Amino acid sequence: MVKVLVAALAVMAIAVAGFAGETATYEKDIKKIVAVRCYDCHGPQAPAMDEWKRDKEGYTKKDLGPRMDTYEHMVVMVKGSEAGAMMRRLDDGKNTNPGKPGNMHAYLGSTEAERSANLETFKKWVGSWNLKRKKDMSAEELDAIKAPEK
Ligand code: HEC
Repeated sequence: MVKVLVAALAVMAIAVAGFAGETATYEKDIKKIVAVRCYDCHGPQAPAMDEWKRDKEGYTKKDLGPRMDTYEHMVVMVKGSEAGAMMRRLDDGKNTNPGKPGNMHAYLGSTEAERSANLETFKKWVGSWNLKRKKDMSAEELDAIKAPEK
């Protein structure tokens, strides 16, 4: 009996380790979510970050945010010049005070279940879910943001 239990626990430990070790990547997991949920306003028709910043208000009126249809465009808002913007906008607000979700959270899905599943995928991809602005992040915090392409 004890042997069976030990064996079962060993199998479980391996299963858990396997799951935790699995990383999300832009190519495998993120691109398809963004294509369906975000390209209407952040697709190839949208301006890259530098251009968008020159006329935020004008582009916003046209429902255009910064472009995120490639890995390079996307990571600007994860760990580049606008590090943290992606996390602040997509966060569900559950661990913040006053608990307000980011204003792009709603676009993550059409149901609560879909939104939270897609948020989990983003969190797994980013590795360290940091809601700070880049200027307030330490070098270690910035380095902890993974967001791999492949
Ligand atoms: C209906 C249009 C629309 C959709 C769909 C949309 N966004 Fe946005 N997004 C905008 C607009 C417009 C802005 C700029 C205005 C603002 O800051 O709220 C923006 C801003 C952002 C920003 C902040 C950029 C910065 O550096 O200031 C991020 C990050 C973002 N969106 C992520 C996403 C993600 C991820 C999705 C898909 C899950 C998404 N958005 C879906 C219109 C949209």
